[in-house]
Amino acid sequence: MTSSVTNYSLSHPVLRYLLNLQESAKVKGVPEDIQTQIQTCIDCIIARDDYCEDISSPASEAMGILIEETKNHPWQQAYNGGKIQYQVSPMMLSGALEGSFLKMLTGMSNAKRVLEVGLFTGCGALAMAEALPADGKVITCEIEEYVADVARKLIDQSQHGKKIDIMIGPATESLQQLAKERHQFDIIFIDANKEGYTDYYKIIMDHDMLTSEGTILIDNALHGGRTYLSTEKLLIPKCQNTDCHMMSDFNNYVYNDNRVSQVMVPIRDGVMVIRRKEAFEGQA
Ligand SMILES: C[S@@+](CC[C@H](N)C(=O)[O-])C[C@H]1O[C@@H](n2cnc3c(N)ncnc32)[C@H](O)[C@@H]1O
Repeated sequence: MTSSVTNYSLSHPVLRYLLNLQESAKVKGVPEDIQTQIQTCIDCIIARDDYCEDISSPASEAMGILIEETKNHPWQQAYNGGKIQYQVSPMMLSGALEGSFLKMLTGMSNAKRVLEVGLFTGCGALAMAEALPADGKVITCEIEEYVADVARKLIDQSQHGKKIDIMIGPATESLQQLAKERHQFDIIFIDANKEGYTDYYKIIMDHDMLTSEGTILIDNALHGGRTYLSTEKLLIPKCQNTDCHMMSDFNNYVYNDNRVSQVMVPIRDGVMVIRRKEAFEGQA
């Protein structure tokens, strides 16, 4: 068990509030027993996250190495040296628990073809590839060549790495190319720049890239509380209005799209599961 405040846990607005409260309580010299109770509240949230991960089947050895090496990689150095355009951090990893969730859903849907938008170091791509049959394929999009190279090396440490093809470049261009070539996918995991989500979704749905029984999975669908809290209540410094609204705008777009049904799953920072209406409803 890790039992420390991780970046993942900070997507819980309640935890952000408790950490603030803990700081004020210290500064204002609030009685010890109250401070202990605040710490207990923090521990409860972290213990719940830790337990979910610990009681789930462990990640594969290759996945364990991928996660560790992502955490230890000198990302700041790569950014300072101009090797990457945007700042990236290990916080971007979907991680062991969400990886297992993706793997489970991929296996449950008997998927053969998977599309991922936003590769980073390959956690999601490898998790889904691990559930595919030997002739299955994951196509994944990544804008940063350097990041894609790091991912390729990590993914290739697994025997499932050969099922993963990486498309380097802006996801919009990769998706348009795949649409033109009439590719269809059973599972589509969208986990890249949030401002692109509506465009990615539109390209996918409008070009019939989702199979009739297929599933779209949207990561960070709760966006650290931005989707359901007002800006004043977020406790996120420098939260710009557009940044705060883009995920709610996307979620509302899906909500109003009568081609699909969806469910919000509050795992980590929220995963929205979307299917065509006909696939979601049974028959009377
Ligand atoms: C949150 S990370 C993806 C995490 C990954 N799916 C996982 O399971 O660990 C987002 C990734 O999307 C990439 N990205 C950001 N904007 C993009 C764009 N316009 N096109 C393609 N990739 C993009 C980033 O470089 C980053 O590696």
